[in-house]
Amino acid sequence: MSSVSLDNNNCLLIQIDNVSKFSLHTQWLRERLSESDYIDSNNKQRLYEPSLLNENLKIIKYSLDGNSLHISFSDGANGTLLLQNLLSEINKTDIIPLKTPWKNNFTNLPIYDHEKLSNQKNLMQMLENFQQLGFVIISNISKEEGTVINFAESLGPVRTTNFGKHFDVVSKPNPNDLAYTSLGLTAHTDNPYRKPIPGIQILHCIANEAEGGDSCLVDGFAIAEHLRETDKEAFEILTQTDVLFKFTDKDILLENYGKLIELDDFGNYMQSRFSGRLDFVTYLEPKKLEKFYSARRKIFNLYASKEFEINFRLESGMLMMFDNLRILHGRTEYDPNTGFRHLQGCYIDHDSTEGKLRLLKSIEANK
Ligand code: OGA
Ligand code: ZN
Repeated sequence: MSSVSLDNNNCLLIQIDNVSKFSLHTQWLRERLSESDYIDSNNKQRLYEPSLLNENLKIIKYSLDGNSLHISFSDGANGTLLLQNLLSEINKTDIIPLKTPWKNNFTNLPIYDHEKLSNQKNLMQMLENFQQLGFVIISNISKEEGTVINFAESLGPVRTTNFGKHFDVVSKPNPNDLAYTSLGLTAHTDNPYRKPIPGIQILHCIANEAEGGDSCLVDGFAIAEHLRETDKEAFEILTQTDVLFKFTDKDILLENYGKLIELDDFGNYMQSRFSGRLDFVTYLEPKKLEKFYSARRKIFNLYASKEFEINFRLESGMLMMFDNLRILHGRTEYDPNTGFRHLQGCYIDHDSTEGKLRLLKSIEANK
């Protein structure tokens, strides 16, 4: 049973089942009125500036009817708030699933048939899985060039870079990036030299007929947490040492600094950066560098390990989408004399996948 009362400061006290109690500020509640006098019913934006509300605003009447909280304020405003919405806001419960760290022990890879994604429920499931694992594989999609852009734009706008709206991953003479050779690429994150770094990468396979050219993915989040647990010193060095990442060709010179593992102010995992082709640790006295190199060797070996890295083959008509701030990707060397290999890639923002998932979930919740 829930009950409400007013305290001496005109704050609303909500008591939930004799277990928890919350004190809610008058203006905080007033700002949450969603009736059409206060919020544009079409775009859901607030129609007034909250700082212009009366600073001595009071609650003059309130009642709780099941889940509905009716409130009247001293400025004449009144409306109904849903208790469950207030509680999920207070508890910061998010409908977006948390990251689930993974190792190389999938019974089934998260592979989604493209044709089935026209069903909103399947699309929602795919996007949920993407949030949890940081990657999904899409099968049964067109083999045509341009498919990567069509797929990306079904989710949101494409991030154009100096590589263009999309990039062609083919072996070519004098390329401006080693990805455009037949060399193997150990697990890396793309473009750590950009500001901001592209959030999500999509790689679509048009042809993969050569010997070699298998794909790998590895979870930077799982490995960061593994290091945090098993090697505090390496974890600290990798989260504290600045590394410069650089890209250059005839048109541009891009640079950005960052940590190989980035944490937020509370120590929570934020992102991984790793690209052995492009990284230059900043100057430190040799003793410190010795420790950094040892920690870097350690994380490199984890990224390449059988325990963490998954290996599979992208066939023509498949694509993979992965969180470029979390998941490292790579490929084995291939022999271009044995067959043609052509991938197309592009980048989109986290806003697209997360925003679409939020929308689908809120539609589902309001059905
Ligand atoms: C890239 C890349 C992987 C592949 O283009 O950034 O990592 O399979 N390509 O060719
Ligand atoms: Zn890459």
